[in-house]
Amino acid sequence: MAIAGACTKGSKSSAPEMYEDSELAKLMRTMHDEQLAVKEAILNGETPESYPASYSHMTTSEPTENMEIGEAFKAYAVLHKASMDNLASSDSANLVENHNLVIQSCVNCHQDHCTGPIEKIEKLYIR
Ligand code: HEC
Repeated sequence: MAIAGACTKGSKSSAPEMYEDSELAKLMRTMHDEQLAVKEAILNGETPESYPASYSHMTTSEPTENMEIGEAFKAYAVLHKASMDNLASSDSANLVENHNLVIQSCVNCHQDHCTGPIEKIEKLYIR
């Protein structure tokens, strides 16, 4: 199976051809940026005013052609939603831990579906 575009490590800088970004790939970048904003708020000692919601479109966004989006993807999406619900109901004492659980659920799906961005996603952990 050919894995093109978003899931190839370093595809943005080193790929000789340009790929048209899929709807799902664009959504993922939004999800990344939203979760980065949550991380920054937490590091500034704030409780985020709102939590990311774009993940809810994950299962309806069109992925890159030939990408295997099936039952496993849906199962990981359900787990990701659960981790987001958990984060949104955090109090300040468990905010860091619950944010890190969200990142873990991003990584879990990526280990199965799209390993390229994992290094970038892991930078979202609060260590
Ligand atoms: C249910 C599985 C799943 C979950 C959960 C998930 N991803 Fe993804 N992600 C994917 C798939 C599949 C792609 C490739 C999309 C495509 O190419 O169409 C992707 C692509 C990406 C990309 C590359 C986008 C690009 O082309 O530049 C980034 C960055 C990313 N995800 C970050 C995240 C972050 C951050 C989270 C958690 C907040 C997350 N993902 C949660 C499956 C998932």
